Amino acid sequence: MSTIGQASAAGAEWREEVQRLTGQIAPDVVQWRRDFHAHPELSNREERTARVVAEQLRAMGVDDVRTDVARHGVVALIRGRRPGRTVALRADMDALPIEEETGLPFASQNARVMHACGHDAHTAILLGAAKVLVAMREHIPGSVKLLFQPAEEGPPAGEEGGAKLMIQEGALENPPVAAIFGLHINPELESGKVSYRFGGMMAAVDRIRIVVTGKQSHGGMPWQGVDPVVASAHIITALQAIPARHIDARQPVVISIGVVRAEGAWNIIPDQVELLGTVRTLDPEIRRQVAEQFHRTVRQTAAAHGTKAEIAYGDYGPVLLNDATLGAQAVKTLQRAIGSENVGETRPLMGGEDFAHYALKTPGFFFFLGVRNEQIGAVHALHTPQMVLDEAALPLGVRAMAMLALDYLAHNQASE
Ligand code: NI
Repeated sequence: MSTIGQASAAGAEWREEVQRLTGQIAPDVVQWRRDFHAHPELSNREERTARVVAEQLRAMGVDDVRTDVARHGVVALIRGRRPGRTVALRADMDALPIEEETGLPFASQNARVMHACGHDAHTAILLGAAKVLVAMREHIPGSVKLLFQPAEEGPPAGEEGGAKLMIQEGALENPPVAAIFGLHINPELESGKVSYRFGGMMAAVDRIRIVVTGKQSHGGMPWQGVDPVVASAHIITALQAIPARHIDARQPVVISIGVVRAEGAWNIIPDQVELLGTVRTLDPEIRRQVAEQFHRTVRQTAAAHGTKAEIAYGDYGPVLLNDATLGAQAVKTLQRAIGSENVGETRPLMGGEDFAHYALKTPGFFFFLGVRNEQIGAVHALHTPQMVLDEAALPLGVRAMAMLALDYLAHNQASE
């Protein structure tokens, strides 16, 4: 292992060293992942997970371990022995309210809580990358900040949490972070491969609540009241005209209503209907246009029926935008680290990812790690009770994360 020959990237010797170290610690990564998987914790309740993470980081000699950031978050720093920038690597730690049905020997021991989104793997991979980077500390030109983040799935009602709170509590400061990388496992992508997309990669998520108010009446005499049920039916239908008639057809927009609540009876028209739903977009300007048309459509459709509509249009998370310059460099790193045949472009996802908040503050690059393997039944979608992943992909994640950090610091060292 030597210092870098080329300014453009950490050299081949570094890659070999990362690969060697990753091979050594692969069993640890699998063991960590299984331990987290057996002990999943919901958003903002990641006490045990955070404790294990902090213990492991201290045991491996990470320089600085800060706990209780954004409730149960852990922010740690590996200081390279040579000067340079600070790059961040992020993992999320929370699980979902799902009863596990995988039958795995290390299945969840907590009723109705399951790591069905792979955050157990993300956390274990970042611990693995930390161990690799600590071993290479003498040669690192700069520092690597590790963000173990709680509540990616969204904090419980009435609580704050997730990436937004991590940023508020200084996760990107002291020292300031110049770039950030993150990954998500993907059961649609073959194990051994990674994928990425420049620009909008995961959707902006808006959370919608509409309350339509009329006047209660007898079901047999609707003219004596003002019917919010018929008005709501028209609103639900009219909303679908927004993507179809108002937005550039080349831009993806999803509007879904998932809850329709009317507490009348078979012969009673209630005075109120509540609608809950979500809007997904992949472009900040389109997001703005949809919001504007949404308000107009709901208000005026309600008014046409003599009802009133109250709208709560909640910003749940921005579109995840991969930085083009950082991304171009990161893709080269990934191609060198795991072979260009294993690195491909992906279509955007209409799911949300709160990594987007970091990527608004500092250049960010997020990618998918394939975990699909039909031979072991690793084919089920995220957020389902059958979701399993191919653990053979975990060392690849470690290598990718470690190399992204090293290559970024090496690449930006020459310009300092
Ligand atoms: Ni997730």
